[in-house]
Amino acid sequence: MRIDVVTLFPDFVRQSASVGVVGRAQQRELLQVETWNPRDYTSDRHRTVDSSSYGGGPGMVMMIEPLRATLMAMRGAAPEPVHLIYLSPQGSRLTQGRVEALAKLPRIAMLCGRYEGVDERLLAHEVDEELSIGDYVLSGGELAAAVIIDAVGRLQDGALNDAQSAEQDSFSDGLLDCPHYTKPVHDALGSVPEVLLSGDHAAIARWRLKQSLGRTWLRRPDLLSQHALDVESRALLDEFRREHVRSGQARSNETVDD
Ligand code: ADE
Repeated sequence: MRIDVVTLFPDFVRQSASVGVVGRAQQRELLQVETWNPRDYTSDRHRTVDSSSYGGGPGMVMMIEPLRATLMAMRGAAPEPVHLIYLSPQGSRLTQGRVEALAKLPRIAMLCGRYEGVDERLLAHEVDEELSIGDYVLSGGELAAAVIIDAVGRLQDGALNDAQSAEQDSFSDGLLDCPHYTKPVHDALGSVPEVLLSGDHAAIARWRLKQSLGRTWLRRPDLLSQHALDVESRALLDEFRREHVRSGQARSNETVDD
């Protein structure tokens, strides 16, 4: 897969994509990340990419011309058609489902805004999709691009080792991940749950599913209401909720009747 990023801060984007799983995916040539700086497509001495906003008000807006030239060069740099994403808080919210769909495309590109944003006419003509990584405001799209490169890059075939299999991820089945433990078995902070030491794979799988369901119920009930539970899951979640209430960890708004 190829990802092109149009950004005034190409070093940041390249460096953030050079470490860990995604860095290795690039070394293995499963992923190619290229950056394009609109300042390289300006014609004035100051390499100007922005101008004041019509209608007044504070802040500058990224101009059409340098971006149009940058996008034209970017599109022409490889034969595959480009799905161009503009990153902004006004976009639709990124989900793991959307990440999985993007990861299947041969080529995407991301346009990172700075200042107050980008001239709307360029967005209307060039952009296929506008995405936000959450309901908060960043000072530019670069961090969002880094997030998407990571989330999409790690899903490329061969990027993860077996032990890191993406099927176990939080959200891949609509639930949060279960807790994980490693050595030592006993510590001043507590002991590893007995079942994980039992070697009984079916019991371990059941425990993990129960913890996933329970955590999702406690922390992200909005996810659970979108998730059709089968009979086994329903029973496991009921068990978790009863144990949770009995353990005294439940807050007054968490009862078994919820
Ligand atoms: N640019 C500024 N804030 C953003 C956000 N929340 N998501 C994506 N891009 C952004």
